[in-house]
Amino acid sequence: MAFQTLRALADGAFHSGEAIAGMLGVTRSAVWYGIRDIAAAGFEIEKVRGRGYRLSRALSLLDAGRVKDLLGTGSAKFVLEVLDRVDSTNTRLMLRAAEGAPSGLVLAAEAQTAGRGRRGRAWQSSIGSTLTFSLLWRFAQGARELAGLSLAVGVALARALRASGAPGVVLKWPNDVLLPAGKLAGILIEMQGDVLGPSAAVIGIGVNVRADPRVAAAVDQPMADLESATGATVDRNQLLARMLAELSGVLAQFAGSGFAPLRAEWQQLHTFQDRRVNLLLPDGESRAGIVRGVAGDGALLLETSAGLQRCHSGEVSLRGAAA
Ligand code: BTN
Repeated sequence: MAFQTLRALADGAFHSGEAIAGMLGVTRSAVWYGIRDIAAAGFEIEKVRGRGYRLSRALSLLDAGRVKDLLGTGSAKFVLEVLDRVDSTNTRLMLRAAEGAPSGLVLAAEAQTAGRGRRGRAWQSSIGSTLTFSLLWRFAQGARELAGLSLAVGVALARALRASGAPGVVLKWPNDVLLPAGKLAGILIEMQGDVLGPSAAVIGIGVNVRADPRVAAAVDQPMADLESATGATVDRNQLLARMLAELSGVLAQFAGSGFAPLRAEWQQLHTFQDRRVNLLLPDGESRAGIVRGVAGDGALLLETSAGLQRCHSGEVSLRGAAA
């Protein structure tokens, strides 16, 4: 009920309780409970006698039909499902993939109750302020041949975010999407299938669209958001359509030729290219060196005192910079 009421108010205009009840086919008291739940969730609602209720700020909520329209003929590659609330779109899509769901299935959610990030971290989101979705893509190759996929996905996201008015978007190995203010988007890829193929990738993407103090308070690193960067209201349906369009191009190219054709573009977008960095390894050791790019399999190439090393995991930070 609360989600339906929120959708009815999303445009930021006044709507009378009666009109909302009529629109949703429910009683006035059901609308009242919906408004109460929305307010309890932290949304600011104005109530004016004779005019009704309105959200103090309009919300761009997801609408599968609009995303399909915006994708045009490209929409044929996708099956789009928009969920109000889910534990994690990645968790759900992994289950659906195991049940045989088709390549191109997208699960997008307004709210995630157990969003997951890389390295077992939680991923925070908030209704209308973040864009959270997962895309299932099936490959003829085995999972081992898909090394570099997460970097390819980073290129697609950077293209879409730049086209959405944030030309300062950069990438940080392996797949953080950053603006000068902090992290703008994250990518979590999970695989299924045989070593020799075929395989399936669940590509989970979370984007900070609008600054939300509740999200910022729950995260222990600097965060950026697209609306602050562009100074404009972002249409989340358009952003999702742009991301899917870029992803379908990049994934088709990746399926045919791997990461190699995308490597130069990735390196151009890499914020630490040719910089002195420390790589903090999962075992707690760190490795110092100069970033010399990435290999065809997505490994970071680090020029160290012991020569050029290929690194497959770790957290990169600028040498001398505060962590
Ligand atoms: C990261 O740690 O940088 C990756 C964050 C990935 C978050 C997205 S939100 C949609 C999808 N569902 C999840 O539970 N996680 C991913």
